[in-house]
Amino acid sequence: MEKVEIYDTTLRDGEQAPGCSLNEQEKVQVAKQLERLQVDVIEAGFPAASPEDFKAVKSISEIVKNSTVTGLARSMKSDIDAAWEALKQTESPRVHVFIATSPVHMTYKLRKKPEDVLEMAVQSVKYAHRFFPQVEFSCEDASRSDYAFLSNVISAAIDAGASVINLPDTVGYCTPQEYAAMFQYVSTHVPNIDRVRLSCHCHNDLGMATANTLAAVGAGVRQVECTMNGVGERAGNVALEEIGVALHIRKDIFNVRTQLKLDEIKKTSALVSRLMNSPIPGNKAIVGANAFAHEAGIHQDGVLKNPKTYEIISPSLIGLDSGRLVLGKHSGRHAFRKKAIEMGIHLTEEQVDQSFLAFKNLADRKKEISDRDIRSLFSRYEKTS
Ligand code: KIV
Ligand code: ZN
Repeated sequence: MEKVEIYDTTLRDGEQAPGCSLNEQEKVQVAKQLERLQVDVIEAGFPAASPEDFKAVKSISEIVKNSTVTGLARSMKSDIDAAWEALKQTESPRVHVFIATSPVHMTYKLRKKPEDVLEMAVQSVKYAHRFFPQVEFSCEDASRSDYAFLSNVISAAIDAGASVINLPDTVGYCTPQEYAAMFQYVSTHVPNIDRVRLSCHCHNDLGMATANTLAAVGAGVRQVECTMNGVGERAGNVALEEIGVALHIRKDIFNVRTQLKLDEIKKTSALVSRLMNSPIPGNKAIVGANAFAHEAGIHQDGVLKNPKTYEIISPSLIGLDSGRLVLGKHSGRHAFRKKAIEMGIHLTEEQVDQSFLAFKNLADRKKEISDRDIRSLFSRYEKTS
């Protein structure tokens, strides 16, 4: 099976989310955990953005040994110089150089003509390649660029020394079909494309980041850029945990592998959520509190008989001990009896009938039943069991 490399940008693009900034020590903590998760590449920050960011990238590059460490740079010598200063001590440093290629970005943001943008791309990649063995080049807003122009920029960047070409859906605008078609277009129109690894980078503005990323993998892309818990600007980036688990669970479809240690996902997710002060919604795929919880009686009964009835992912895959049976008004007698046993109370059938009725009445009044509620329901049987 071909490998898909996982490029984590929690500490760069993820940190751009409002209120999610981290100090140097927190960034190092996250980077160490990302290394345990075995991501291939850690984008540690944007060294030219601030002295704090510079220091954090430098510290991470000194500490992390088993993942490639990279930093972002605009297509400017001063940004590339800052990245080199921050990263030069790592074994295999990579710089991530970018420039926008869409008409709207070139006209209004850069105020540059397409030919000037192409020239800046070439000069910056050439300059970066004098220092860095690995140069990743991104065409910002690639998905809204003219594909013929995009192909010229990519081809020139490859000739200038880029070894990874990243084509972001910067504003989360693409549909999966469109995003895959863009990669298919450049794969057939860029003559030297075989010399590089293609990379995707999706934002979630229309809620399609995961579908777009998986479509890109289907189109032959072999590096996925993502963030833990999907943190990032606006609606965020594609979530690492969704891609890692989807590629694993549906390897029958994608036929690729990653080197992620999936059972480190839950720990990484909790750490990022806590340090970034960014709570995870209960229904968030893979890492939400309810992702493995079952309340409905029919579901609970099924899961107790065979977890495969309602769980396509085993909780242990991501490092959880077990799924959660939540007691609420939809719960059935099986889950109720199991809870009693877990609490060390063995009820007779008659006792189950009596207390289950009391439980249902209580559940009609309360949204979720706590262990304390249950204990008080069982209290009169505790002495006799
Ligand atoms: O979304 C984007 O285009 C980016 C680039 C800087 C790669 O984050
Ligand atoms: Zn981005």
